[in-house]
Amino acid sequence: MKKALITGVTGQDGSFLSEFLLGKDYEVHGTIRRSSVDFRERIAHLEGNPHFHLHYADLGDSLSLMQVIGKVRPDEIYNLAAQSHVQVSFDSPEFTANVDATGVLRVLEAVRLCGLTETCHIYQASTSELYGKVEEVPQNENTPFHPYSPYAVAKLYGHWIVKEYREAYNMFCCSGILFNHESERRGETFVTRKITLAAARIVQGKQDKLYLGNLSSLRDWGYAKDYVECMWLMLQNDKPEDFVIATGVQHSVRDFCYYAFKHVGIELEFVGEGSDEKGVVKSIDPQSPAIANSQLAVGDVLIEVSPDFFRPTDVVNLWGDPSKAREKLGWNPQKTTFEELVRIMVESDMAKVAVERASEHITTNLVEYLEKGIVK
Ligand code: NAP
Ligand code: GDD
Repeated sequence: MKKALITGVTGQDGSFLSEFLLGKDYEVHGTIRRSSVDFRERIAHLEGNPHFHLHYADLGDSLSLMQVIGKVRPDEIYNLAAQSHVQVSFDSPEFTANVDATGVLRVLEAVRLCGLTETCHIYQASTSELYGKVEEVPQNENTPFHPYSPYAVAKLYGHWIVKEYREAYNMFCCSGILFNHESERRGETFVTRKITLAAARIVQGKQDKLYLGNLSSLRDWGYAKDYVECMWLMLQNDKPEDFVIATGVQHSVRDFCYYAFKHVGIELEFVGEGSDEKGVVKSIDPQSPAIANSQLAVGDVLIEVSPDFFRPTDVVNLWGDPSKAREKLGWNPQKTTFEELVRIMVESDMAKVAVERASEHITTNLVEYLEKGIVK
């Protein structure tokens, strides 16, 4: 049975990758961090599986990495752990550098010092943010990098140190240059999830408005579940190489809003420009079950721009060319389309909000019954 170690197993990608590797009969080991609240929602369903094991380790702590790598002696390491939020990297640049840059070095050195240089295949989570202030579209493996945030600068170090260890020590280590990938498990402060959750809350009467930053920003958004397969394929390749992983299709934040709200029966139109732009209800589909009990009306303003979500430098034109992954790895970049991705996310958030509302309703009734002495 092959052994895989995933750093960042509690994250969006870590949870999907764990499921994928367990399905391929791997013994999966994941690193977790101690937290004052025990919050492992994304992997809760895997705990108890005899082939799934968790270990404490932190990318800022070499000794913890040495310990876990020395103990597990994995055949494959997927280094997914990172401070992954670009906007947060402007507020915490030093922490971001420590984890996203030096952390990669710590993993590589731990592999070397544990004597696994010749046996362990390593995947590094690189990013389309490396293209940053883009120099060409679409971007492929030969497009020059121009990182444009503390996050991207840290990730550039990670990318280059992996290349260096590959050449200096002949290690099987490679980087996936992944474009944005989303899912129903995406963190709630990334723009796609913020939009799908807001659409669900707005139609169910739990939120009035959605405030966003740059609506014109362009991204190549794919489905995380499809992308983890490619991480694995890269480590099964006959030689270590870097690959762009993307869908090859580009949309704006504005488009994402349009499709998410359309899925709950609301057609939006965008009026105004820059900070004054607004997303307004243009029409409501009376047949849509999602909208059934909503109080919304044509002309309601549902989206506004807030400068709170502008970044000091913003990456505005990401569009990937996945030809190399398609040709060399046989990977299908169009398995889940953009509209399908939006549908998956909106439906999941509609259900989540409905459950929250139902549990609030039960709590309110219970309090009332207790107060009236109906139940004791
Ligand atoms: P995510 O949901 O934010 O997950 C990040 C993971 O890293 C979490 O498990 C987190 O643990 C862990 N982590 C953070 N700091 C750590 C530290 N100091 N030591 C150990 N673990 C730490 O991110 P994701 O979307 O799954 O992305 C996975 C990787 O791919 C990241 O490296 C990200 O930068 C990169 N990437 C993502 C995308 C994308 O669109 N999703 C695109 C390109 C590249 P806690 O749960 O304890 O916080
Ligand atoms: N988060 C956020 N919140 N972004 C907003 C908002 C908002 O309210 N309004 C507009 N945006 C714009 C951002 O300015 C950015 O241009 C775009 O939406 C996408 O932002 P995020 O969803 O936060 O993702 P990201 O592209 O910055 O970073 C993600 O993708 C990278 C790959 O390109 C992260 O997953 C990174 O870890 C990953 O490397």
